[in-house]
Amino acid sequence: DIQGFIFDLDGVITDTARLHTKAWRQVADQVGTPWSQRLQDSLKGISRMESLELILRAGGLAHTYSDEQKEKLATAKNTEYLRLVATLTPADILPGVQSLLDDLDAHGYKMAIASASSNAPIVLHHLGLTHYFPEVVDPRTLHHGKPDPEIFLRAAELIKVAPAHCVGVEDAAAGVAGIVAAGETAIGIGDATVLRAADINFADTSQMTLVNIRAAMRTPSV
Ligand code: BG6
Ligand code: MG
Repeated sequence: DIQGFIFDLDGVITDTARLHTKAWRQVADQVGTPWSQRLQDSLKGISRMESLELILRAGGLAHTYSDEQKEKLATAKNTEYLRLVATLTPADILPGVQSLLDDLDAHGYKMAIASASSNAPIVLHHLGLTHYFPEVVDPRTLHHGKPDPEIFLRAAELIKVAPAHCVGVEDAAAGVAGIVAAGETAIGIGDATVLRAADINFADTSQMTLVNIRAAMRTPSV
């Protein structure tokens, strides 16, 4: 029986990918890396410094910047990202998410956030969702990023629910892999081919209702 729900943030609760993209594009323009859809997609779900490395590499600049200069670029990106995040409101919560959280809360499920973003608490604040998530994993305390299961194991620990009794929700393949490796039940939001490792797939968040989740748990996809 399921007792806990662990949510990714970016792409599951709200669409912050477009804000990360805007902020990184400014850095790319500054250093002279040409932007591409492929580069943009590759930044999804990975850490700030890893993202910067990909942007520098895409511009043939992997060895051009010192660690100190890289820190400056990453900080500039984050300053711009935070400026954009400040414009978020509850209207930016993805369809169906608020009512799912209300349902889960009413049924007494424990809830946590497992996001690679160190800005998750501030994003939740602007969305007005802080009170649903007393537990937010701080990614700076982890040794490994997704697809490693560490973040999902830590989240289960924080809500004091054994992984086997947890559901994890993700929009990225690396995230789904992490949930599965943690021994939790994986819900994939988005392209079911990309997220075929998930136990349950929904095309978008509006289909992610408690009724649909319970039905899917009784008839798991093969
Ligand atoms: C992930 C995003 O959730 O968090 C990535 O998908 C982002 O795009 C990463 O780079 C780290 O976020 P932050 O806010 O700590 O720079
Ligand atoms: Mg995500």
